[in-house]
Amino acid sequence: MTRLVDKVALITGAGSGIGRASAQRMAAEGAAIMCADVDTQAAEGTAVLIENAGGKAQMIGVDVAQEEQVKEAIRKTCESFGGMNILFNNAGVAGGYSWHDCVAINLTGVFYGLFHGAKYMAKNGGGVIINTASVAGLVGLTGPVAVDPDDLEPATGAYVAAKHGVVGLTKQYAVNFGRYGVRVNAIAPGYIETPMTADLRAEEEAEHYLISLHPMQRLGQAQEIASVAAFLASDDASFINGITLPVDGGYTAR
Ligand SMILES: NC(=O)c1ccc[n+]([C@@H]2O[C@H](COP(=O)([O-])OP(=O)(O)OC[C@H]3O[C@@H](n4cnc5c(N)ncnc54)[C@H](O)[C@@H]3O)[C@@H](O)[C@H]2O)c1
Repeated sequence: MTRLVDKVALITGAGSGIGRASAQRMAAEGAAIMCADVDTQAAEGTAVLIENAGGKAQMIGVDVAQEEQVKEAIRKTCESFGGMNILFNNAGVAGGYSWHDCVAINLTGVFYGLFHGAKYMAKNGGGVIINTASVAGLVGLTGPVAVDPDDLEPATGAYVAAKHGVVGLTKQYAVNFGRYGVRVNAIAPGYIETPMTADLRAEEEAEHYLISLHPMQRLGQAQEIASVAAFLASDDASFINGITLPVDGGYTAR
């Protein structure tokens, strides 16, 4: 497909999982990709994969929780490729983070991308912004066993709060920037087989529980999110603005 020929995409979290698959997919459809990740080696790895496949890519180290670094990534993308038509605010973290860090990366990081990215696009002919939310941005998460109140993790709810925030920000920026030719949408993946969920899937019983949450009775693949990101980035989605699209095998249909 050649839907993204002459487009330039900045993708955060491009070093792994959904971000890497999306970078490869958008490159295969013709876009030049700035692979941004806090893990610079991983970002470099994605850029090399794209170049080896005949695509165009560069990398930049970015911590999305640092506003100046997000601004710099946008500036560098424009400097390197002559503009920025697509911004995929995808970087995120799951368990093991404090409330503050989880919200700083998963929500404030998306906000920085939206704030600076939408402004740039509005002044430069429009563009497309995609945010990675989650089914956790639409419903609360369930576990296989009831949580004892004394065992609550200090950051319980932070991921769900952050992802619900991403859904809200997506609507707000779509409303504010639609008139300037900037479309803003989000994707809400179900459980996807990426490094992020490796620990959750490590034990067979736990994996079966996760699978059981999806009516399609399987987990998703990163490529199944990447194809939706490429669609939303393309003119095939030219009148889609402000939605959060579940890509979850029916997880949120129940
Ligand atoms: N895997 C799933 O089941 C699933 C489900 C729903 C939503 N998501 C969301 O999808 C997105 C991608 O997740 P994934 O599954 O590909 O995970 P992943 O761990 O494979 O990749 C995440 C990437 O983000 C990078 N990253 C982490 N913190 C960063 C920061 N502060 N600044 C820049 N980059 C940073 C990591 O280095 C990594 O390369 C996340 O927003 C995640 O919350 C994942």
